[in-house]
Amino acid sequence: MTNIDGIYIDKLVELHGSPFFVVSARTLRENIKTFREAFSKKYPKVKVAYSYKTNYISGVLKIIHKEEIWAEVASGFEYDLARALEVQGESVVFNGPYKKREELEKALKEGALINADHLDEIKLLEEIASELGRTVDIGIRINTDVGIHQLPDRFGFNLESGDAIQIVRRCVEKKLLRIAAIHIHLTSYIIEPESVENTTPAKRIKLIWPKSSDMYRMAANKVARFAEEIREKFGLNMKYVDVGGGFPNVDFLTPYVEAVVEPIVKGFKGDLPILILEPGRAIVSNAIHLITTVVGVKEFPNGERGVIVDAGVNILPTSFWRWQEIEHLTKPESSLKEETIVYGPLCLQTDIIGKAMLPELGAGDKLVIKNVGAYNISQSSTFIFPRPAIVLIEDEQVRVLRRVEAVDDVFLFGNF
Ligand SMILES: Cc1ncc(COP(=O)(O)O)c(C=O)c1O
Repeated sequence: MTNIDGIYIDKLVELHGSPFFVVSARTLRENIKTFREAFSKKYPKVKVAYSYKTNYISGVLKIIHKEEIWAEVASGFEYDLARALEVQGESVVFNGPYKKREELEKALKEGALINADHLDEIKLLEEIASELGRTVDIGIRINTDVGIHQLPDRFGFNLESGDAIQIVRRCVEKKLLRIAAIHIHLTSYIIEPESVENTTPAKRIKLIWPKSSDMYRMAANKVARFAEEIREKFGLNMKYVDVGGGFPNVDFLTPYVEAVVEPIVKGFKGDLPILILEPGRAIVSNAIHLITTVVGVKEFPNGERGVIVDAGVNILPTSFWRWQEIEHLTKPESSLKEETIVYGPLCLQTDIIGKAMLPELGAGDKLVIKNVGAYNISQSSTFIFPRPAIVLIEDEQVRVLRRVEAVDDVFLFGNF
């Protein structure tokens, strides 16, 4: 990979130093178009709400919202960011397990769809509705068994235990909240049950991505059945069904579209709800790459080869779950390759970003860490090194979305 959308990466290194993230506006737009079309071809009422936490660089969000995509936010902080980017309240889905009272109040007044996570949040919403003197529409997040061994799922109200239907009953009886949406999100990181030893969650976390489309079919079937139960028991029709995110790369969407749409069309018969989808990774993952430079080569006593590069786990935290895809910037694919451990620059044994087949390397060689747009920039930290520049390629122009952080950007001197 020597160029991105017609711009030579070597030239970018001369201008921006190393490391830096490169965003392709073209790939972002193509992903959005393909994602939306894949669902819209099979279902008449589709709304795509991009999951902010996946990557909320404002330059990226602006491109996404220009394509009339809603915002899916998981905190008041993300909600305010969406509003600062002039996303209307009615185009925001507000999720997450902790929303402050004043944030809920503001979002309700501005017409956002709030998906409640737990009973205490329902109680706050009831108080607000009572003060407003009207019944307000909300959604509830549910969780259900789709064959993943993760119990309990910490988000939402459980279907099998009857928790979910109990909450609907409470809302119907109190007449303060009207359930208008059922929300589910099949998580990509699961925590395996504890084994004999009392291991910490981090040691039990397993990444399941891409997930099987069967899980989506099972979830969509259960959501449709739950909606039917609510209609029969309480005469309530869902305005929205929100199936969350977790979708694979847009080239592999077809079985997922069928798995979600078929049970909903069948279950809801003529009265179809608006289908909300909350993709994150599928939109940004392959639209962003990281350019890094080799700063040293190591030969270990056991014969293994390692290199140190100038980008570590502080800016690529997903390396803890999965090795990154790494390529040499200029050497041809056909070059003789050797397995190489790629270490970051942090003074930390676990700063390893991948193990890849790479050609012979020397200090100064440039590598491309591919498809790193999801969950890296938003989770990155200034641990030992600052966060790097982010540049955008759009219509063959290059623009800096964020410059490399300096000490003054990170630390507040003066009164402290
Ligand atoms: C509620 C919710 N929706 C959507 C997403 C986006 O998931 P993905 O990036 O896997 O599409 C997440 C991510 O964890 C989420 O928690």
